Amino acid sequence: MTQKTESWGSRVGLILAMAGNAVGLGNFLRFPVQAIQNGGGAFIIPYLVCFLLMGIPLLWIEWATGRFGGSKGHHSTPFILDSMDKRKFWKYIGVFGIFTNLAVAAYYCYLESWTLNYVWNSISGTFRGESAESVSAYFNHYVNAGDAHQHWTSWIADNPAPIIFWIICLLLNTWILSKGLSGGVEKVAKIGMPLLIVFGVFLAIMAVSLRAGQHGAINGGEVGLNFLWTPNFDTIWNPKVWLAAAGQIFFTLSVGMGSIQCYASYVRKKDDIALNAMSAGWMNEFVEVVLGAAIIIPISVGYLGIDKVVEMTQSGGLGLGFRTLPYLFEQWGPTLAVICGVFWFGLLFFAGITSSLAMGTPWMGFMTDEFGWSRQKGAWSFGALVLILGLPTVLFFNQGVFDEYDYWAGTVSLVVFALGETILFAWVFGMTKGWQEINSGGDIRVPSVYKFVIKWVTPLLLLFVFLGALITPQGNDWVNAFNNGWVLDNSSIIKQITNAGLKEQMHAATTAGDTATMDALHDKLLYINIARILLVSVFLGVAWLVYTAYRKRIKEGRFI
Ligand code: PHE
Repeated sequence: MTQKTESWGSRVGLILAMAGNAVGLGNFLRFPVQAIQNGGGAFIIPYLVCFLLMGIPLLWIEWATGRFGGSKGHHSTPFILDSMDKRKFWKYIGVFGIFTNLAVAAYYCYLESWTLNYVWNSISGTFRGESAESVSAYFNHYVNAGDAHQHWTSWIADNPAPIIFWIICLLLNTWILSKGLSGGVEKVAKIGMPLLIVFGVFLAIMAVSLRAGQHGAINGGEVGLNFLWTPNFDTIWNPKVWLAAAGQIFFTLSVGMGSIQCYASYVRKKDDIALNAMSAGWMNEFVEVVLGAAIIIPISVGYLGIDKVVEMTQSGGLGLGFRTLPYLFEQWGPTLAVICGVFWFGLLFFAGITSSLAMGTPWMGFMTDEFGWSRQKGAWSFGALVLILGLPTVLFFNQGVFDEYDYWAGTVSLVVFALGETILFAWVFGMTKGWQEINSGGDIRVPSVYKFVIKWVTPLLLLFVFLGALITPQGNDWVNAFNNGWVLDNSSIIKQITNAGLKEQMHAATTAGDTATMDALHDKLLYINIARILLVSVFLGVAWLVYTAYRKRIKEGRFI
């Protein structure tokens, strides 16, 4: 059977694939925006603390859990978790580790396809001689966003490119996945990761060496860098900043997803994980805090100034990378504009594809393990699921489907799952066995302070993050909430479930008799509900498959 022969080709390949899983669009698009929104130097301290106390421990937990499950023949979290304790419900917690991958892939592949389109536009000179407004308008039209968006039917008829590039992207992912780990994923990582670093270093040098007055810039590259790297303790006690930092650590390291466990389940029982996990994790951090921070921020601050950039990131983060940067590259003259455009979007593309491939593997691992599916069948069914789930994100981007997926699957689920797996690992499986799992075959000895951190600090931090997001107080003003009573903010998970913010807007529009806004908001609510129904269906569908697999195991006497 295929899964028996599946394994990594080499250690370098494994580390690059794992680093490729982690290094993604989050490093280049999400990190800079989070840093800017949360006060630059005030963000970086909680961020680094979260990396050390939550990110690194979770990497070890997930690698160890994965290798442990793999040695028992499991390659996805439902039965990996199941093999760690006799209680039966863990496998349903493990459903998250397949569900999130499918749901995140559904919007992530769309984002990835934009980068492909923009590589093409950079080569063909679409933005040459265009004004800032028209470069920005191109993006709006591409994703059919903004007030002037069209009905989806006419948008598609006028503008098939987004769908075409998206399908190309899905086919590419599916095809690579069908080649397997060493024959597909690992090869792509070995080519993609080095190229990404070369492109990134080149762009970072260009950005950092920008001088005020040169090519129309108003600030030198150092202004943006100073903003990020000058420690600023003003807001350090604000839980909002900590939540944002923790959220970024999750997203960027791909922890709480199930894809690291899946990759690690193909590591041989005697091979090192202690050092491998660190190598991949630190490589991600290098790419994020060194390269990710040194491209968008210095260039956009160089041209627009800090205030304007802060303002632009308030209305969502993707704009800077797609709306602004291609225009700014044009200021550097035609040759550099093409080179930088291709490097920037090419880098994003490689970052994206090595992550989306990782999202395909848990589903494939599960179907091969439990239902004897071939790799091809696993890959193509993944492609088909992403196509179905992703279509609403493409067609109804402006109505918030994309954001809905990102919030529930790409943010909330990660924390919930990480909390569950940490409790299982540190408290149920137990730290004595857990510590052995992390260190066995290790090429380094993990500092013993981490035994304490994994048992106490990480779960408590996770709990704090989860509760903080669940009951965020109004205006994110924690001091006030403690003193004057707790009113939930519309961004809290509880209020998000009931769509409280949207309903307030609807109410305001009704009172004002603004029917156009009312209609738009009604539409939005409808699409948000559709997105939720889809997400819940996927979760329940996977849970049902897990249940079926469990029954099948009992029938075949495969259960211990
Ligand atoms: N870590 C990837 C990034 O930074 C995204 C990702 C999230 C990949 C979750 C897998 C799982 O973009």
